[in-house]
Amino acid sequence: MSPLKEVIINKQTSINPIWIMRQAGRYLPEFREIRRQNPDFIKLCLNENLSSEITLQPLKRFEFDAAIIFSDILMVPYGLNQNVEFKKNFGPVLGDLNLESISKLDEIDFVKKIYPIYKAIKLVSNNQITQNKSTIGFVGAPWTLMVYMINQQSPKLKLKENFFKDNFLINRILIILEKFLKVHIKNQIENGAEIIQIFDSWAGLLEEKDLPNYVYIPTLNLVEYVKSLNTPVICFPKGIKNYKNYCEIVKPDAICIDYETDPLRILKEIKIPVQGGLDPKVLLTDKDNLKKETKKYLDIFKDHPYIFNLGHGVLPETDPSMMDCLVKIVKDY
Ligand code: CP3
Repeated sequence: MSPLKEVIINKQTSINPIWIMRQAGRYLPEFREIRRQNPDFIKLCLNENLSSEITLQPLKRFEFDAAIIFSDILMVPYGLNQNVEFKKNFGPVLGDLNLESISKLDEIDFVKKIYPIYKAIKLVSNNQITQNKSTIGFVGAPWTLMVYMINQQSPKLKLKENFFKDNFLINRILIILEKFLKVHIKNQIENGAEIIQIFDSWAGLLEEKDLPNYVYIPTLNLVEYVKSLNTPVICFPKGIKNYKNYCEIVKPDAICIDYETDPLRILKEIKIPVQGGLDPKVLLTDKDNLKKETKKYLDIFKDHPYIFNLGHGVLPETDPSMMDCLVKIVKDY
């Protein structure tokens, strides 16, 4: 069994597998080189030879225990025929949302439009490098995807004033997303993804009272679906205050914590395997500090099933030699 599954399924505490959110990406010169030649990010995600190569790049450099497929959560709105572009130094920009056309879309057309993602997963999971490692597939949670689809760009600190005004639209989108996210999950698993991570990057924008409707229930539906396919599921509800409630209601197989969450409180309150936590900014400091901060997490979770990761994606300005150092600290612990 792969090290991640040993932790998630067998609750193994004597190993600390490591992978890093955004491990395939802009902090690697070999990625930037491919990126320079491929200015269209969506096309790059839909080129299975390049996207599988990018997925494997970090595994060739570092002793990571998992490959996360090079793609994006916004490939789902793209598959639903909403225009998606990634603007340099700005981030994603989405086109107008046409509920009528989205409502008419069928599963086959959706799958056809993003099919190279599944081919890339197959290439990665069949590659020698990922033997005895996990290939991680992922989706954005319905709430986070809806935020992008309605807001049409990153919400940064808050939602548009009238975000919730069209209740009909919101409920329809949640239903449509649930349907197509299940299709996307199923295809990833059938092509070799052996763990699914659900990213809810904007869960922290909601007040406590709105979490059940927009986060707990829609995510629980997906979690139950992933489990029904005999696949472990990790949830990352970034920015929420009450991880205990979330775990009790949504019941993921493992929970990924962000860098603002107190790991001691998590240890006390949460029984399921934990992943992540370390602030990505620590990788921008020096090696002594990196060692100190990394050990803090390893010490706290030494008797708890724990997968090492950061508390959000690795920052583009990270020096790869710091990543190397981090992996060695975790492996030598
Ligand atoms: O983790 C990995 O290495 C796998 C690939 C991956 C990407 N995006 C590649 C990417 C994954 C898992 C994601 C998830 C994702 N995408 C999330 C959830 C996690 C999180 O960061 O909160 C979100 C919110 C997005 C949406 C998104 N994609 C934004 C806001 C941006 C622009 C800003 C940024 O973070 O770079 C992207 C672009 C993106 N997705 C890049 C990469 C490598 C950068 C592309 C580039 O400009 O070269």
